[in-house]
Amino acid sequence: MAATSKSSLTSRPEWKALSAHYDAIKGTHLRDLFAGDADRGKSMTCEAAGLYLDYSKNRIDNTTMDLLIQLAESAGLKDRIEAMFTGEKINLTEGRAVLHTALRAPKGASILVDGENVVPEVHAVLDKMAAFCDRVRSGDWKGQTGKPIRHIVNIGIGGSDLGPVMAYEALRHFSQRELTFHFVSNVDATDFAEATQGLDPAETLFIVASKTFTTIETMTNADTARQWLLAGTGGDESAIAKHFVALSTNAEKVSAFGIDTANMFGFWDWVGGRYSMDSAIGLSTMLAVGPSGFREMLDGFHEMDQHFRTTSLDQNLPVIMALLSVWYSNFFGCETTAVLPYEQYLSRFPAYLQQLTMESNGKYVTVDGDEVDYETGLIYWGEPGTNGQHSFYQLIHQGTRLIPCDFIAFGKSLNPIGAHQDILIANVLAQSEALAFGKTAEQVKAEGTEDWLVPHRVFQGNRPSNTIFADKMSPAILGKLVAMYEHSVYVQSVIWNVDAFDQWGVELGKVLATNIIPELESATEPDLQHDSSTNELIRRYRAMK
Ligand code: F6P
Repeated sequence: MAATSKSSLTSRPEWKALSAHYDAIKGTHLRDLFAGDADRGKSMTCEAAGLYLDYSKNRIDNTTMDLLIQLAESAGLKDRIEAMFTGEKINLTEGRAVLHTALRAPKGASILVDGENVVPEVHAVLDKMAAFCDRVRSGDWKGQTGKPIRHIVNIGIGGSDLGPVMAYEALRHFSQRELTFHFVSNVDATDFAEATQGLDPAETLFIVASKTFTTIETMTNADTARQWLLAGTGGDESAIAKHFVALSTNAEKVSAFGIDTANMFGFWDWVGGRYSMDSAIGLSTMLAVGPSGFREMLDGFHEMDQHFRTTSLDQNLPVIMALLSVWYSNFFGCETTAVLPYEQYLSRFPAYLQQLTMESNGKYVTVDGDEVDYETGLIYWGEPGTNGQHSFYQLIHQGTRLIPCDFIAFGKSLNPIGAHQDILIANVLAQSEALAFGKTAEQVKAEGTEDWLVPHRVFQGNRPSNTIFADKMSPAILGKLVAMYEHSVYVQSVIWNVDAFDQWGVELGKVLATNIIPELESATEPDLQHDSSTNELIRRYRAMK
């Protein structure tokens, strides 16, 4: 499929209108925007699929949103959404369809890739996963010595780790507590050693999760796991079939590793690594929460998919979120967005979002290969509240940078104890209020502050945030939340005209590392071919090791 030919983004009238509008509105304070519209806290909200988005504390007015929607329309957003859902090969540089939405489609749906309906295959894999999970969870699946499995170790990296570990943490409340879950991603041996510390090999199941089954970190950890398992179960190779399963698109490599392909759960090249937590890559999630919990999560994803596909742009949660990101990135010149979940179960959500957003939209050329003359891909970062308040929030409140924030909070705690939840929620509300409205010098003086101290105690305010509210953490809500961000990333990529589904930027480092490994292992002074810095560092490492 050829890219839609359009005039370059910054020369479009819609962009120019936004630029002029930015000049007019950039100095306006949120205090004035709220004072001028008593209804703003209600009108600038959007609710769908159980998620409530309050975007009123952003530096926008109704004209801003109209102009942003016009920009989205000028990018052909509606058509691009359909192109994704209908399996067009929108991952242009890899010539692939992008169909993570098919992973959560209901059984009867039909989604064609190269003329074939992929939905039956998706459900066949889900059924196979469910049968396996039922056997492990019930204790029917036995290890080499006849003991049931008690420990699950997921070995994977990037999308084959961040989604599973985030989802496990998010849904821990719903997990089968007799099973323990561990995640090994780093090629640093410490990760493996610590994750397997104290585990009985006879009760341990390794999930080797790798779309390609060639990733060096995962293959190195999988080899180490095999040795660890064989050493702990008597050395008979037949133990591998009982203690290893693979999640991959590459049956040949799985087989070459020694894992029976009967113990492989497949997926397809139209599932990107960072969009794969609801494919077979989610096996650890399904083991934790069971097939019905996993289905609930998929249904949550699907509900958000439907909202995204069918709702008008101005009432569309992922679209609104994406347009605000474009507004701050391209007009206010913001570099980063902080994601601040006030829910301990979402402790790994910011890390998960980093790959989703930054591997997707960290691109300097358009799909046509032209260098962009505007910023793409905001930097995402964050930590759960309230912890971050006692760490980096100072800079968000009083620093020199403008950092839009996404606050995520829930009406109910899954662990309701005393006043904890009220205190938690009071904090999230106080933070967005303080960021938006601040505290003037007059207010500080009126408190009797000495003159010299006044500037230190002034909060300028006018610092934007979104607040996302939902009832309580659940598999369905997790699916909706992740799908909202997935689609927001896609909308941003459509506006920026970049391929959100490739990741060529990680390749060079991989190739260079592969070249350096033998140089580090060599006992003799290698014929080093690098720059003087890299050569010297290699010599130093060889002397140190
Ligand atoms: O870092 C690049 C990358 O390809 C990611 O996109 C991917 O999620 C990760 O490596 C792991 O890849 P695999 O699942 O093939 O091991």
